[in-house]
Amino acid sequence: MTASFDPQQYERLSSGSVPGYAALQDLVALAAAATGPGSSSRVLDLGCGTGAGSLALARTLPEVQLIACDPAAAMVAAGRSRCETAGVKAHFVVGGLSAVPDDARFDVVVCTLVLHFIPVEERVAFLTSIRERLRPGGALILSVLGRSKDPAVQAVWTQIRRHHATSQGITPTELAAREAETRGKVQPLSSEEVHAALDSAGFTNAVPLYQLVAVHSWLARPGSATPESAES
Ligand SMILES: C[S@@+](CC[C@H](N)C(=O)[O-])C[C@H]1O[C@@H](n2cnc3c(N)ncnc32)[C@H](O)[C@@H]1O
Repeated sequence: MTASFDPQQYERLSSGSVPGYAALQDLVALAAAATGPGSSSRVLDLGCGTGAGSLALARTLPEVQLIACDPAAAMVAAGRSRCETAGVKAHFVVGGLSAVPDDARFDVVVCTLVLHFIPVEERVAFLTSIRERLRPGGALILSVLGRSKDPAVQAVWTQIRRHHATSQGITPTELAAREAETRGKVQPLSSEEVHAALDSAGFTNAVPLYQLVAVHSWLARPGSATPESAES
């Protein structure tokens, strides 16, 4: 991970330059809840950033044990403060998955807007390490910045993003600076690439759940458990 993450800048640019950012966090939390975690369940927000998703998870699933981790200490501090201010329960850890105690196994892992920052050659290992930390029957809710193979669609996504950013008070200069900073560090994935990476990592039943402009979210379960088992 080489992109820099400054919490204040991230707060402004995340909601400002990802159309539907707040809705995404709410949907991810609802998708996590739909997998049916109970009161003794553990949920991990992997790559929690400034905790927008952690807060949504804590509010949607107040009874679970929620752990949120991120290698960027300043992002974790912002996330912890956000949850404390809101009066919700979450345990924050500085570091990636390896910083979360070895014996911790999770019923749900949420990983939002992280995978496209992981170098391509490390993605399968990253996803495999998540699978290894899931309890039997556990689920991954993965949300990724996508890319369309259709240049016309990609162009529309870019325009939506730019118009949205402007409507949120982000200047074209700021947006261009952020795009320049992340160029080469962010590698969005097509649906086929997400599916293939999940499959190679042992998530053989991954299904796309929904898409908000360029961001697509997946439900992935290891091995032979079927995604349909999430239905009540
Ligand atoms: C775009 S932010 C997304 C943050 C948050 N999930 C959200 O939805 O706002 C990406 C985050 O991934 C974190 N990250 C980068 N590499 C990671 C890794 N190997 N494991 C966990 N988190 C990682 C970064 O520090 C950063 O906070």
